[in-house]
Amino acid sequence: MSVVVPRPAGPHPLDDPRPAPGALAPVCTLDTDARVLRLDGQWRFRWAPSAGAAEAGIERPDFDDSAWGTIAVPSSYTMPAHDATVGGPHGAPAYTNVKYPFPVDPPFPPDANPVGDHRLRFALEQVPARAHLRFEGVEGAGDVWLNGIFVGSTRGSRLPTVFEVGDLLAASNVLVVRVHTFSAASYLEDQDEWWNPGIIRSVTLRERPALAIDDVHAVAAWGQNGASLRVDVRTASDTPLTVEIVELGVSVAPGVEVAVVDAQPWSAESPQLYTLRVASPHEVVTTRIGFRTIAIVEGEFTVNGAPIQLRGVNRHEHHPDFGRAVPRETLELDLLLMKRANVNAIRTSHYPPHPDMLDLADELGFWVIDECDFETHGFGDVGWRGNPTDDPAWEAALRDRAARMVERDKNHPSIIMWSLGNEAGTGRNLAAMADEMRGRDATRPLHYEGDQECRDVDVWSRMYAPHDQVAAIGWHEEPPLDDPALDARRRAMPFVLCEYVHAMGTGPGGMTEYQQLFDGHPRLIGGFVWEWLEHGIHRPLPDGRTGTFYGGDFGEPVHDGNFVIDGLVAADRTPRAQLADLAAVFAPLVMSVDAEAGVLHVHSRLDHTDTARYQLSWRVASAQSSVDADGLDEDGVTQGRAGVFAHQPVPPRGSAEIPLPPPLLEHVRTPGLVVTVEASESDSAVPGMGGWVVARAQVVTVGAEQVRPAAVPAAGILSLDDLVLDTATGAVTAFGEQAVEDWRLELWRAPIDNDFGIGWDQPDTRPNAERWAALGLDRLVSRLVSLTRSSDRVEVVTRIGAAATDVGVTARWTWTVREGAVHLALDVTPDSPVGAAVDWARVGVSFALPGTAAGVQWFGRGPGPAYPDTGQAAHWGWFSRSLDELQERTVRPQESGARADVRWARVALPGSASSAPDAALEIASPEGVALTVRPWSTETLAAATHDHLLEPDGRTHIVLDLAQSGAGTGACGPGVLPTYQLPAQHVVGELEFRVS
Ligand code: GAL
Repeated sequence: MSVVVPRPAGPHPLDDPRPAPGALAPVCTLDTDARVLRLDGQWRFRWAPSAGAAEAGIERPDFDDSAWGTIAVPSSYTMPAHDATVGGPHGAPAYTNVKYPFPVDPPFPPDANPVGDHRLRFALEQVPARAHLRFEGVEGAGDVWLNGIFVGSTRGSRLPTVFEVGDLLAASNVLVVRVHTFSAASYLEDQDEWWNPGIIRSVTLRERPALAIDDVHAVAAWGQNGASLRVDVRTASDTPLTVEIVELGVSVAPGVEVAVVDAQPWSAESPQLYTLRVASPHEVVTTRIGFRTIAIVEGEFTVNGAPIQLRGVNRHEHHPDFGRAVPRETLELDLLLMKRANVNAIRTSHYPPHPDMLDLADELGFWVIDECDFETHGFGDVGWRGNPTDDPAWEAALRDRAARMVERDKNHPSIIMWSLGNEAGTGRNLAAMADEMRGRDATRPLHYEGDQECRDVDVWSRMYAPHDQVAAIGWHEEPPLDDPALDARRRAMPFVLCEYVHAMGTGPGGMTEYQQLFDGHPRLIGGFVWEWLEHGIHRPLPDGRTGTFYGGDFGEPVHDGNFVIDGLVAADRTPRAQLADLAAVFAPLVMSVDAEAGVLHVHSRLDHTDTARYQLSWRVASAQSSVDADGLDEDGVTQGRAGVFAHQPVPPRGSAEIPLPPPLLEHVRTPGLVVTVEASESDSAVPGMGGWVVARAQVVTVGAEQVRPAAVPAAGILSLDDLVLDTATGAVTAFGEQAVEDWRLELWRAPIDNDFGIGWDQPDTRPNAERWAALGLDRLVSRLVSLTRSSDRVEVVTRIGAAATDVGVTARWTWTVREGAVHLALDVTPDSPVGAAVDWARVGVSFALPGTAAGVQWFGRGPGPAYPDTGQAAHWGWFSRSLDELQERTVRPQESGARADVRWARVALPGSASSAPDAALEIASPEGVALTVRPWSTETLAAATHDHLLEPDGRTHIVLDLAQSGAGTGACGPGVLPTYQLPAQHVVGELEFRVS
């Protein structure tokens, strides 16, 4: 018999800041044997520019929607990927960082407030008496009707809403959801991302039996005496219950804490899960639990008694085609790629994630900060006037959000902190949220970065703090707060960087230096890189290719451009170079070889487990042999050039000196070799991780000897006559038969995103890009000062400067011939007025070759790119890459892709294969140069706004850098650290060229 449920009279007013009435009290998500009907799939859909302009009567079951298009649920309906199915306009995503895309006029949404109307017909073979209609997430504000009856409204885009609907169900049903883009609740959801409405997560209809189990709260703890468990169960009515830990065959009484014998603890390194099964006579539900206890002990953040270090990333939910509706495979890929990058922690910036993500985090092992769906950053732009965080009118909504997050996610062992939200200023409602969270779950510390007085939290958090400030915090030497009591409280807290190193474009620099701080100070519990992924949006191009777009590309009058493109992986999850670098910085083992002592030093960053899961192996390459270009062949192994060696497991946070086995010991003491030691996963429960290299150490004994692969025939011998110069300019125009174009000295780079920011540690400077432009580094011209040719040398002196400035350099180009190669000694002297503060981007020799090179083979660091403060993953060896593979493409084109410390390179000229080129330009550098090879010039790169607009110009552009500036992380955070800056200075270098 169905129960008639009292319902709200009509949709919740869009300008009402309170929670919408009608939804059930929040509960966790349980697996159940009761019937669950997934309502995901194709729904009828129609968009309108406002509710007033939309069709009337859509809620009526007999409404004729046959002219409507269809859309997938879940989806963000504004995404271009739906163009073909929705049968008309459907709005567009809009990107803003801090700014609201409507007047700051709380609690009112704008009149221009598009709606997406969704309709679904579904049939039921058996009509349940009681059922819950559950929305996991509706972005925007939803109004819901079932069979013509208004059911309720949704608020809180990334939180579940559940309605009691059993009394409304019939054999044939019509479910109607109108999604408004904006409402009062939009003021609480001003996160830096796309405004992208839709039914973004699953919709389910769940039968509720009479003796239903509505909620389970399991507190699974780990203490000195092992595991304990308390399970509280909420049921629809009084019923006998059994509670069991399935794998252990242990029954526990609900409502009391009991000791659990034989259980293993849960940690991110050893994610031991158990199934908790709760049964009433009518329903069996399960949830997974892991035994672990979080405690802050003397200012250190501990789990199960051991301090932990968070090597984390901030993860948003975005897909280039589907917006916020991220497919399960993508989510799985995210977490696998994180594991491979040695990431052990995730902050769910800035809202509770898709529930599947937390299940996976429990399974695979991640420490998670679960963040509430709450940000009011745009009020900062108006002096925080009217900020909901401090206005009692919004308290109920904020408590509601806090409650819904904690109740949904409370049983996940991976969650070690709740976060109140992000960038919402300060105010009384933070205390209300904290109270709501603590009242529901007292086992997890609270996090919030926006209140630096830390009144309502347990951990001190900052974002993008420069290194010196973080160091001071590590030493407990931070500047005091005005209030001594608050200061004392904060001084006793562990510290986390909830965001640091902004992975936008080329960069970020400074990762290594932050990690050194985390390793050196127990108070610093680590941090979360901003951010995991780029939020690019795919749209088909007229020529059939797919382009990636960003803010402003969808007609938004107010937007923040490509600031949404700032991740370690592209929106389609292609790893970017910085992901490999991050993996090197986050390595669980820190290894170095001491050739003299004959040992491998290993320090473990693991907090809970020993190193038994890793296998140590080694291999050798020589200055003449490229055998290990991308892996070693069988021969290498049999010739004693590779092997594995055993090690005694190193305990958590322990160190060891492992003796090198005899052949390895001999190699590390032999000149002319590159010896690589690697630790790889040999025992990972995570699919896709077996054999994955997690840490690397190298010994390079290659000295002054000539580097050249024995297998590659030496390129042609040149004489000084083969050096063809333009006598009017001193520029090289050919090496022998090989034409050379646009020969010049380059001091500029195509500005990277970090070059447009002001480093937080250098607030008084102007962005690099502006300073370089003011000096004219992007428009340098050269004047020939002198050109003298003798029998054994050519000497060219040029003066290089820009229009309208007296700042420049004098370059002395001394050409000789050595061992069949044309040899250049370059001497660059700044020629600037005393006191002029001049920083360069690079000191490089730049030129072009006609035709498109097939690829490059090199000895140096690789395979990925490296700048002075990046490239932690770039290691020594032989590498070979096609021209395409050498490009580190960025959504907004910018300087990228330099390979560092290149001692020898062979650029395969058009028509040759890259591996064994017939026609090649060979470049050698005894000290090593940074090598950039691309099919477009630096100017073209700088001028293009989108990657798909870059057109190869049919030439091969090469830049050989004797010096470079670091990348820094100035797009958001500190600029280039002083050691990696390139102030104007005297620079010398040597290069050799041969052709064949
Ligand atoms: C932070 C913010 C993030 C993001 C980042 C810059 O201030 O919390 O959401 O905007 O800066 O990309």
